[in-house]
Amino acid sequence: MPRAIVIRSNPAHEHGDDRPVNTAAVEEVDESFLGDDPVLVEVSHSSINYKDAMALTGLPGIVRRTPLIGGIDLVGTVRQSSDPLWRPGEAVLLNGIGMSETRNGAFSELARVPGDRLVALPSCLSPARAAALGTAGYTAALCFLRLRRAGLVTGPERPVLVTGATGGVGSVAILLLAAAGHHVAALTGRPEELGDYLRGLGAERIVDRAELCDQRGALQKQRWSGVVDTVGGQVLVNALAQTAYSGTVTACGLAGSPALPGTVMPFILRNVTLAGVDSVEAPVEARREAWGLLAALPGERIDAVTARTVPLDGAIGAAEELIGHRAHGRTVVEVRA
Ligand SMILES: NC(=O)c1ccc[n+]([C@@H]2O[C@H](COP(=O)([O-])OP(=O)(O)OC[C@H]3O[C@@H](n4cnc5c(N)ncnc54)[C@H](OP(=O)(O)O)[C@@H]3O)[C@@H](O)[C@H]2O)c1
Repeated sequence: MPRAIVIRSNPAHEHGDDRPVNTAAVEEVDESFLGDDPVLVEVSHSSINYKDAMALTGLPGIVRRTPLIGGIDLVGTVRQSSDPLWRPGEAVLLNGIGMSETRNGAFSELARVPGDRLVALPSCLSPARAAALGTAGYTAALCFLRLRRAGLVTGPERPVLVTGATGGVGSVAILLLAAAGHHVAALTGRPEELGDYLRGLGAERIVDRAELCDQRGALQKQRWSGVVDTVGGQVLVNALAQTAYSGTVTACGLAGSPALPGTVMPFILRNVTLAGVDSVEAPVEARREAWGLLAALPGERIDAVTARTVPLDGAIGAAEELIGHRAHGRTVVEVRA
């Protein structure tokens, strides 16, 4: 029977307790628990994203039915397929599509998934590096592609700003932007502790998060040619107010807040675009384009954002560290150690 991390509703919470809504534990599951999707994958690697950390620590908002196997990133090899698109032995990856939300995810030695949004693992990416990039990297790539389509041009005085910079999405966004020759500023709450890490990824300027946390003017000095925002809230509002004329701000995250407590001034007076980025439901063409971009990153650049690798049994502890802001970069989960 495959081993998997199963998330179950927490009876203590149901009785009015203030403990987490769900619990998570490694269990052996019957193959019938995996569902009836057409492609059976031997999962080798997964990773811990912000969403995974929320799900594994029992926080509400991610897992919408229980019991459910967690894990939004899957890398592995097809064992069986009734979908003619895929054959046994093919190396594949899959991100999002509701895994760990409404359908079983990838923290499982075996997973059953639909074939329509599977992506062939690019030949130059090892399974471990593909998992190191994971949803965070793929989302960073979607943001990068959006900025590129919008005609991003940066200079030393007008870099592109990446917020939540030490996180998974932020770290890979810096790698991609720097690899394309852009000037990058990294906004972080940990400038002293992790400034060198961010400079190592390619950030030219480190900006203390405190600079963008207060309520300020609706239009401020134009500092950024574009923005990758993973934080939301007042930081996003200030980033919009500091974006140069005709710049694009991609918003993909809410690590700080889901609120948007701002004005329309940047849109109507500076022609700024706020571009939402979703990875979960993205079509397969967008997935292939994003993964093609990620596969072109040199392996040692990917290793630079890979903070650690844990076995399946270590995933829950690693999730607690990520939620407690004691982690940075990416955490790979070796599902089959
Ligand atoms: N739209 C999508 O499809 C999609 C896909 C992936 C992720 N996301 C979202 O993007 C966000 C980032 O994901 P991730 O995987 O990069 O998470 P992560 O690895 O946990 O990184 C989040 C980073 O945000 C910063 N941060 C944490 N708490 C903050 C606060 N209270 N205020 C401001 N900044 C704070 C920290 O960076 P510093 O210490 O450097 O400030 C932290 O490293 C999450 O909200 C996630 O749900 C969305």
